[in-house]
Amino acid sequence: KNSTNLLILGRTSNYLPSCQSTNDIAAGLSQSKNLMDGHVVWTTNQTAGKGQRGNTWESEPGKNLLLSIVVYPKTLDAGNQFLLTAAISLGVCETIKSFIPDKDVYIKWPNDIYVEKLKIAGILIENMLKNGKIEQGIIGIGSNINQTHNLHPSATSIFLETNKEIEIEDYYFRILQNIEAFYLKLRAGKSSYLKSLYYRNMLWYQEERLFQAGDKFFHGTILGVNNEGKLQVSTDEGIKAFGLKEISFVINR
Ligand code: BTN
Repeated sequence: KNSTNLLILGRTSNYLPSCQSTNDIAAGLSQSKNLMDGHVVWTTNQTAGKGQRGNTWESEPGKNLLLSIVVYPKTLDAGNQFLLTAAISLGVCETIKSFIPDKDVYIKWPNDIYVEKLKIAGILIENMLKNGKIEQGIIGIGSNINQTHNLHPSATSIFLETNKEIEIEDYYFRILQNIEAFYLKLRAGKSSYLKSLYYRNMLWYQEERLFQAGDKFFHGTILGVNNEGKLQVSTDEGIKAFGLKEISFVINR
């Protein structure tokens, strides 16, 4: 199905009926042999999924897609890791949007995908740096597809939003296709997608909201992302830029 359109992602892959963490399997494989750029490890049953900041990633067995892509973005400087993050987030966001066209699907900067106020996909990128370059990246993506009940109060799935079941395989090819489009731009040294209105419009919550940076709370409005990949926020004290771990949103439940 459709796989013939893919140039790089998924040329080689491992499907596993079940595993602990596709990111860990991918990391292990990459140590024991030379993998192709874009090698994919995937399952629908992950027993010890890893999330950001040491969290776990829960997924109803058999219902969702858990995948890891091994990438070798040779020319990407370590200081430009956000370009990879942005490319992947855009591809995932686009995919979810295509299945839920009637609702607002957003990137909660830097790399969570939300449908309105609920999280539908999470991304965990584990980069290996060498000589100031990204030697290898392992991109883990958990997408909630046919999950029928929330494993977390602020989570949702495509099924919960649309009442429709989706073939995991269809989703698999569509997400690889969408990510590949941005990954090819990245490999070609084109990072203009970051500055595009398209990316800006995909960022979560353009209206004023509450942020936290360190132990400081303040109101601000997201303007976009600057050339360094930092989030630009307009605040009472002017426009400020925040790096990957410097700011978080305060979510009112
Ligand atoms: C997050 O939002 O906290 C990131 C979640 C990332 C989950 C995916 S599922 C596939 C891959 N394997 C893992 O163990 N984690 C990632």
